[in-house]
Amino acid sequence: MLLELNGLSKKYSKNTYGLKDFSLRMENGVLGLLGPNGAGKSTLLKMIATISCPTDGTIVLNKNNVLSDPNYMRKQLGFLPQYFGVYPNLNAYEFLSYIAAMKGIGGKDLKARITHLLTQVNLLSEAHKPIGNYSGGMKQRIGIAQALLNNPKVLIFDEPTVGLDPVERIHFRNLISELSQHCIIILSSHIVSDIDTIADQVAIMKKGSLLAKDSQENLIKQVESKVFQTTIQTEELEAFKREHIIVDLKRNHTDVTIRFISDTQRPYFKAQKATLEDAYLYFTNTNTNQ
Ligand SMILES: Nc1ncnc2c1ncn2[C@@H]1O[C@H](COP(=O)(O)OP(=O)(O)O)[C@@H](O)[C@H]1O
Ligand SMILES: [Mg+2]
Repeated sequence: MLLELNGLSKKYSKNTYGLKDFSLRMENGVLGLLGPNGAGKSTLLKMIATISCPTDGTIVLNKNNVLSDPNYMRKQLGFLPQYFGVYPNLNAYEFLSYIAAMKGIGGKDLKARITHLLTQVNLLSEAHKPIGNYSGGMKQRIGIAQALLNNPKVLIFDEPTVGLDPVERIHFRNLISELSQHCIIILSSHIVSDIDTIADQVAIMKKGSLLAKDSQENLIKQVESKVFQTTIQTEELEAFKREHIIVDLKRNHTDVTIRFISDTQRPYFKAQKATLEDAYLYFTNTNTNQ
């Protein structure tokens, strides 16, 4: 699989862009799309999923133009939208059978396929209960299962880990790594820790633009030797915030210990090992004009 996005833009109104001149190329594996709320993640994913059309640019899958032939994408696509609605009176079997019918998936193996998917998302024991009684995390898992119904080769999950508890997150991660060998998986989040253990490549977005896309290792390299810790007096904090990007802080009695990013080193700054979170904050805070 090869997905190429070239100069994609989505103009919502005269001066409002959801996405601006976005280009990216990816092959099989997991791409984590990271950006604050309003960055344009859902706008981008809906366009790849052929739910909405770009106002400019092209989407090409395996050399096929997706904008002129959306069915080429749809046949191999699994999509979990950010806001996923369920029919509360249906149970998991009924709901997945219904979605399968909508997608034109049938045949004698369908029931076995649904059972397999419910096992994968750990819902088999609850499969005969109405979805309306499910917790947020269980509903999200049904959403993940419906995205997998057609054995997709392009899987798009918009904020999939919202509502999942820590154990469900681990299951989700394992499922993604199982699937990722043979398909393109794109998942979005505004939380770094949801992405960092699963994504091979990370794209950092803000205000409709792509700020950086690389392996986690290379993104982290860009902030290496810029991450420090120091302790300052509480009253110095505001001034410090204006000069540096604060990653984390811990208040003590009269002072505060901070982890921060700085382009300049001072003798009382203690160097720290950089993480993806540091890189994310660095890119999203140093590109304030974009
Ligand atoms: N249907 C729409 N009409 C107008 N503006 C929109 C619409 N959908 C999204 N936007 C705007 O586009 C920007 C990107 O939104 P979105 O793609 O939802 O970001 P994210 O998913 O990263 O939180 C935001 O400023 C949002 O307000
Ligand atoms: Mg969104």
